[in-house]
Amino acid sequence: MKKIPLCGELTVPGDKSISHRSIMFGALAKGTTKVENFLQGADCLSTINCFQAMGISIENSKEKNQVLIHGKGLHGLTAPKSVLDCGNSGTTTRLLSGILAAQPFTCELTGDASIQKRPMGRIITPLSAMGADITGIKENRCAPLRIRGRRLSGIHYQSPVASAQVKSAVLLAGLYADGITTVTEPYLSRNHTELMLGGFGAKVECCGTSAALTPPKELYAQELTVPGDISSAAYFLTAAALIPGSELLIRNVGINPTRDGILQVYRNMGADITFLNGRTVSGEPAADLLIRGGHLHGTSVGGAVIPSLIDELPIIAVAACFADGETVISDAEELKVKESNRIAVMTEGLSAMGADVTETEDGMIIRGGRFLKAASIDSHLDHRIAMSFTIAGLLSGNMPDIKGMDCVKISYPDFYRDLERLVSAHQPPILNFSII
Ligand code: S3P
Repeated sequence: MKKIPLCGELTVPGDKSISHRSIMFGALAKGTTKVENFLQGADCLSTINCFQAMGISIENSKEKNQVLIHGKGLHGLTAPKSVLDCGNSGTTTRLLSGILAAQPFTCELTGDASIQKRPMGRIITPLSAMGADITGIKENRCAPLRIRGRRLSGIHYQSPVASAQVKSAVLLAGLYADGITTVTEPYLSRNHTELMLGGFGAKVECCGTSAALTPPKELYAQELTVPGDISSAAYFLTAAALIPGSELLIRNVGINPTRDGILQVYRNMGADITFLNGRTVSGEPAADLLIRGGHLHGTSVGGAVIPSLIDELPIIAVAACFADGETVISDAEELKVKESNRIAVMTEGLSAMGADVTETEDGMIIRGGRFLKAASIDSHLDHRIAMSFTIAGLLSGNMPDIKGMDCVKISYPDFYRDLERLVSAHQPPILNFSII
């Protein structure tokens, strides 16, 4: 079946990781922080709710994607009246835990069923080494967590995982510690915390895979613009790269080198991606991406590049099904502890569509080129799974029936509207969903 090229322009919503941090650091800074192009995804709204519950006034103009945070300084949070609800957001849960470890109050935080299964031992261990009192209420090192604020000491933490959530939790606790806090990770994970804390006036020194924070006296309010989320751009990027004749311009995409692994991998697979108007947006590199469609071939994805594309591996697995030859994804065990077990869920769903996919201990082996058929897919309420299978459906011309597809609201509330707009400009609707 001939695929209809994807042509036109698109602006994806603001970066999720940066949007979370803008609220957290704005709340801990003195004065009013103004954030433009804030992501109105459910995860970031959870972060806003948590800080409002701790006495921070936050004005969110949803129609403008603009947020004003009236920060009260490093010591301005007050005890919440009830349990803090982090929803589906691992970033909220883990980064907030680092902050709460040092507050002069006790509180509890929890989230949805997925959050209550995700490992929190990875933050409990280093925060406890700093002197924190943090426990899983169900005694399983998962949320709900009870955190009793304590006086903390700086540590040098050698993290066993390359995780920006772990690194950031420790560095944020370090804002309040006696002495310098250093985190070293096996590979460099996304560095938004380091960059943005520097912008708010903290001293953060980075060297290789280490980041060292000197506790500041104060953080100072900023005016920020959030660049577009490369993790959201990834779905359209993939579709355009794989449909010959496509020419898609995605404007204002964050291309921080700790996040741009998908671009390196797709270029290795033969994709035609051009960077236009390279610039810096509030300390973060950004560009417009022009993608011209063609044919991709298989590749190996593993090692140091993994943290820089960790959230894109589900859509990269989809791309591999439409590429010639074999793609091997390895060193990606972390996928098992995301919003769902993304190795198992992708293998199961792609196999149901007829793809040749083998699940391995730390990834997947995918042999591309098979015809994919429509199937019934369970998103497991994981936003990246729902969006990845939607693109698999678009590329195969056989849209799967995706259970729980409105979970895209976690990171990309207008995903289906944007897709429908691009696709319907060129063909009668083949998508069996309505705009959310
Ligand atoms: C995030 C870090 C990543 C990523 C998540 C957002 C962040 O998790 O998967 O979607 O904002 O710091 P890990 O750092 O645990 O890999």
